Amino acid sequence: MRKVWTVIGTALCSFALSALFVGVSAAADTCVSAKCHAQMGKAQYVHGPVGVGQCTVCHVEVKKGHPTGRKPDFKLVATGKALCEKCHQPVDKFEFKHTPVKRGECTGCHDPHQSDAPKQLKKKKTSELCFSCHKNTQQVKKFQHGPVASGDCNVCHNPHSSPFPHQLEAKGNDLCFLCHDDRKAQFTRKYPHKPAMESCLKCHDPHNSDHPFMLAKEGTELCLSCHTKMAEHLKKATVKHGALVKGTCTTCHTPHSSDYPRQLRTHTKDICYTCHKEMGAKVRAAKYVHGPVKQNDCYACHDPHGSANPLILKKYFPKEFYKPYETANYALCFDCHNKDIALDKITTKLTNFRNGDTNLHFLHVNKEKGRSCKACHEVHAGDQEKHIRKEVPFGGSWKLPINYTKNANGGTCVVGCHKPKSYDRVNPVKYE
Ligand code: HEC
Ligand code: HEC
Ligand code: HEC
Ligand code: HEC
Ligand code: HEC
Ligand code: HEC
Ligand code: HEC
Ligand code: HEC
Ligand code: HEC
Ligand code: HEC
Ligand code: HEC
Ligand code: HEC
Ligand code: HEC
Repeated sequence: MRKVWTVIGTALCSFALSALFVGVSAAADTCVSAKCHAQMGKAQYVHGPVGVGQCTVCHVEVKKGHPTGRKPDFKLVATGKALCEKCHQPVDKFEFKHTPVKRGECTGCHDPHQSDAPKQLKKKKTSELCFSCHKNTQQVKKFQHGPVASGDCNVCHNPHSSPFPHQLEAKGNDLCFLCHDDRKAQFTRKYPHKPAMESCLKCHDPHNSDHPFMLAKEGTELCLSCHTKMAEHLKKATVKHGALVKGTCTTCHTPHSSDYPRQLRTHTKDICYTCHKEMGAKVRAAKYVHGPVKQNDCYACHDPHGSANPLILKKYFPKEFYKPYETANYALCFDCHNKDIALDKITTKLTNFRNGDTNLHFLHVNKEKGRSCKACHEVHAGDQEKHIRKEVPFGGSWKLPINYTKNANGGTCVVGCHKPKSYDRVNPVKYE
């Protein structure tokens, strides 16, 4: 775009100027000689009129006192930008004007005569030019943006004026995509992260930062600075998910946009298994998969971030194998299942795990040395009906096998705890 705002067509300009110079060429001989202004025109880049020795297109010819000893006043034929605009098109056409341009201080950046830098600039490196007036806050931090590190401030800022605030070359996120078009796919997925659509600058500094990717903050801190509810939640969580202890939010979430709800990197059905591979293999191979796990709803029981319970469980569930009975101990299961399952000793309704009307859930669970559900049930998946486990980890590495067969009115357990036992709801088995 900048190309359009440039000087008058060069050809036209040179033509007009050469005509102008012919008329005043005599001045050259008087101003530049071995004695006077000898360096004029010797630098690498010489401004058009100076190159052809035309001093008086800009300076009022001094007839009196110069060069005869008295200090000349070198009055200019015009001041500020008016001088430049004698030959150049205005460079301040757009709404947002750089202050020195607005003030007509063209010579704050351009040398009117000659320079060692292209475009008559006073410094070779653009950033150094900028820092001749601005305090350097852009190239001081550890992580610097590509074009900032190389000092090319003017790829984003027009040095003169622009239709956009801060004299930027484009508006909002468009600026970033002038160069990062190759990453646009990261931003156009089905589920956009709201702040990324609003402004890249909500997270990234355009110049530099103490954090990788020029982020405003690092790691979880960045995310939690906006997700204050989550921050509160994690503050209270005495148990944090290992994924967060060892990694950050972006190990599971994408910062820009996602193909999956909740900004997740992969589908909810796979995200846990990307790390918990053994669990994934077990569930996929199992004959019987527990309801919520079948629905890929690990979150029904686990909080993926952290919780106040062991194993990041949403509700309390005992770690111990034996535990004095209290309904609250199994709150996790009773979120979905009948909470009275083990409440009454005698029942014909509460559970199918009974011998006649003797509640076998009550018998095993509801006592001082009550067994936890996990003594018999798999919580995720397994190969026996009713999610009865194949084996129970029982202290150290020894595992207690359980062989369960279900039949129409009950079942049989062959276990290490007691002799093989059957139960029958219709014709209760008599135990010795
Ligand atoms: C394009 C316009 C322009 C032309 C052509 C020009 N000057 Fe200047 N000159 C200026 C301006 C503007 C200043 C004031 C400098 C400043 O404000 O930084 C200046 C200042 C000067 C000064 C005093 C300050 C300094 O830089 O030392 C001298 C001496 C000078 N010019 C000599 C010349 C001579 C000799 C020529 C011809 C070879 C010439 N100028 C051609 C615009 C011009
Ligand atoms: C008398 C006419 C004249 C005046 C007055 C004039 N210029 Fe120029 N300027 C030219 C010519 C001629 C060129 C060379 C054009 C080219 O090479 O394309 C030029 C080139 C430039 C260039 C380099 C452009 C490029 O693309 O490389 C800059 C920058 C510039 N002038 C800035 C200024 C500034 C700032 C002033 C006022 C202090 C000014 N000019 C005053 C005639 C003038
Ligand atoms: C803050 C520094 C700064 C000021 C002030 C400034 N310029 Fe420039 N100017 C530049 C830079 C940097 C470039 C080179 C742009 C590029 O290469 O993309 C430039 C380029 C130019 C060019 C060459 C054509 C172009 O656009 O590339 C002209 C002509 C020009 N300036 C004229 C002016 C005039 C006239 C003024 C005063 C009204 C002025 N400049 C004030 C920094 C400045
Ligand atoms: C001749 C002195 C001078 C030079 C050189 C200069 N600036 Fe400035 N610039 C100013 C002044 C004065 C202001 C207005 C005061 C302020 O905002 O700091 C300003 C303002 C700005 C602003 C707008 C600030 C805002 O809050 O909107 C930007 C952006 C800027 N300059 C960028 C640059 C860049 C990039 C360069 C180098 C290409 C540069 N400046 C070179 C003097 C200069
Ligand atoms: C990748 C594009 C880009 C580059 C390169 C860049 N800037 Fe900026 N700059 C911006 C954006 C975007 C803003 C607006 C920041 C905001 O709105 O918070 C800005 C704002 C500014 C401001 C005004 C606000 C402030 O932060 O003080 C100045 C001054 C400035 N830049 C100077 C520079 C200088 C000097 C350089 C080169 C060392 C540079 N910029 C390089 C994009 C850039
Ligand atoms: C003028 C071109 C340009 C513009 C405009 C630009 N960038 Fe960059 N950006 C680069 C270059 C060059 C790099 C370094 C090379 C790379 O990593 O791709 C870079 C790197 C980055 C990086 C670090 C990438 C990495 O892998 O380390 C981030 C983040 C970034 N830019 C964000 C932005 C944002 C946000 C904006 C808009 C405010 C923006 N960029 C505008 C050119 C640009
Ligand atoms: C909510 C904060 C946030 C917003 C808003 C944001 N980003 Fe990022 N961006 C990040 C984080 C965090 C990373 C680090 C990469 C990671 O952890 O996966 C990053 C990395 C990047 C990278 C480098 C790594 C890569 O994957 O290529 C680029 C480039 C980038 N962002 C550009 C942008 C652009 C352009 C915008 C605006 C359209 C933007 N970002 C908006 C947080 C954000
Ligand atoms: C600048 C503030 C801001 C930052 C920083 C930020 N977010 Fe967000 N995030 C939001 C907003 C706003 C929403 C949209 C919330 C809404 O629609 O209710 C959102 C939505 C989300 C959602 C979807 C929530 C839902 O209910 O569907 C997730 C997940 C998310 N962000 C994760 C992150 C992660 C991870 C990071 C760090 C890389 C992060 N956010 C950084 C502001 C932010
Ligand atoms: C182990 C993967 C993982 C990590 C690490 C992770 N999340 Fe999540 N996050 C999820 C999953 C899965 C969901 C969706 C849960 C659901 O649908 O109930 C989610 C949901 C969210 C939501 C929206 C729902 C809610 O609970 O408010 C936000 C916001 C969120 N995460 C932010 C974050 C932030 C911030 C971090 C870093 C502190 C983070 N997440 C770390 C997996 C993760
Ligand atoms: C980025 C890898 C990663 C992802 C994805 C992940 N986890 Fe984890 N998870 C871990 C790590 C690491 C631990 C800590 C394990 C350790 O310290 O041995 C852990 C621990 C756990 C624990 C506690 C187990 C224990 O032995 O302490 C549970 C439960 C858990 N994760 C469930 C989930 C669920 C549910 C999901 C899907 C939302 C999930 N994880 C996704 C890495 C991950
Ligand atoms: C019905 C509730 C529930 C659901 C749904 C659930 N879990 Fe669990 N999970 C538990 C309980 C209870 C434990 C503790 C088991 C124990 O102590 O033996 C546990 C333990 C774990 C452990 C640590 C011990 C181990 O077996 O490795 C991981 C990892 C785990 N779950 C991951 C997951 C993943 C991944 C999902 C989704 C596929 C999921 N869980 C779904 C209740 C659930
Ligand atoms: C989020 C709800 C939910 C939670 C929490 C839950 N379950 Fe389930 N459970 C189900 C669903 C759904 C089924 C499938 C019901 C069906 O197929 O009729 C099921 C089935 C079962 C079955 C097999 C029932 C049958 O008749 O085949 C057992 C045993 C079981 N769950 C035990 C548990 C235990 C033990 C816990 C606690 C660790 C628990 N559940 C936590 C939802 C849940
Ligand atoms: C001693 C082993 C054992 C323990 C301990 C145990 N269960 Fe069961 N559970 C069974 C058996 C066997 C069945 C199958 C009954 C049938 O359908 O014949 C069953 C069935 C179930 C069912 C299906 C509905 C029903 O009652 O028939 C649910 C739900 C259930 N158990 C949940 C639990 C919960 C919750 C706990 C912990 C509070 C628990 N179980 C403890 C063995 C046990």
